[in-house]
Amino acid sequence: MSAIPPYPTGAAYMHGRFMPVAEAMLPVTEWGYRRSDVTYDVVSVWDGAFFRLDDHLRRFKASMDHFRLQPKESMEDLRGILHKLVQMTGLREAYVAMDCLRGSPPAGMPRHPRYAENHLLAYVVPYVWLMPREVIERGAHMIVASTPRIPEASVNPRAKNFHWADMTQALFEAQDKGADNPVLLDADGNVTEGPGFNVFAITNGVVATPDRGVLEGITRLAVIELCDKLSIPCEIRTVPVEELRNADEIFISSTAGGVMGMTRLDSRILGNDRPGPMTAQLHEAYWQFRREGWHAEPVDYSALAA
Ligand SMILES: Cc1ncc(COP(=O)(O)O)c(C=O)c1O
Repeated sequence: MSAIPPYPTGAAYMHGRFMPVAEAMLPVTEWGYRRSDVTYDVVSVWDGAFFRLDDHLRRFKASMDHFRLQPKESMEDLRGILHKLVQMTGLREAYVAMDCLRGSPPAGMPRHPRYAENHLLAYVVPYVWLMPREVIERGAHMIVASTPRIPEASVNPRAKNFHWADMTQALFEAQDKGADNPVLLDADGNVTEGPGFNVFAITNGVVATPDRGVLEGITRLAVIELCDKLSIPCEIRTVPVEELRNADEIFISSTAGGVMGMTRLDSRILGNDRPGPMTAQLHEAYWQFRREGWHAEPVDYSALAA
């Protein structure tokens, strides 16, 4: 028999302890906060099952290695912690975040990151949508941001990070222009990504998404696999902004919402101002496959009683 979940609005794990999410707090001296010296990942739970948890854990480990972050817990410990956190909320649709923070060097030590004790933090809250549901349904409005994406050589976008000053500026620009989302370009005018999502352009029945300057999104990976299943050609390569400007359809992908259509780019209205037919097909397929348990790792909600 299932126990009553103790933290239905959200649960967190920190320093070996489980707690309500509102109680998880950081000291102001933490370098994860003061220097954005932290990496993270986010996996979703839908219908009571994680989606592609192995892929998220693999990416999180690679991000930690990239930033030379090493928590006490093993990856298998982390898997158990994430399952337990979801069980503690009882949530069947959840947003599951894991962070590894630098910590802070002890007082009196040289201010070098190697003296800090890295630590893991994880929390679970109700599922978060990147945009309101009605915007996803009508199709979102996008602008090409005037702020370029931080150069790949400075901050590697494949290691998930909080160096979001460019994204934040671009979000304000989008809002100032009455749009929902920005897309950021690299210094050569090629499409990269946006705040929390990967970008796809569809031209003459072919899907294209940038191969560099982006986080290799797990939903992006799902889209690439779905294209293969649906016999839709999908190219992973440089996408010049002109290609995006002239595309028949544009969509984005994210853990926080799956496949989401764009209907406007700057002053241009795409198609009939509704998500295009191939976008709709991929959107439907994504949710249908998930409902059928594709790449799903079920949560055992009764385990909490044990
Ligand atoms: C910068 C950036 N790009 C792309 C994505 C999409 O990745 P995923 O599909 O793994 O959620 C995210 C997700 O947070 C992101 O922050």
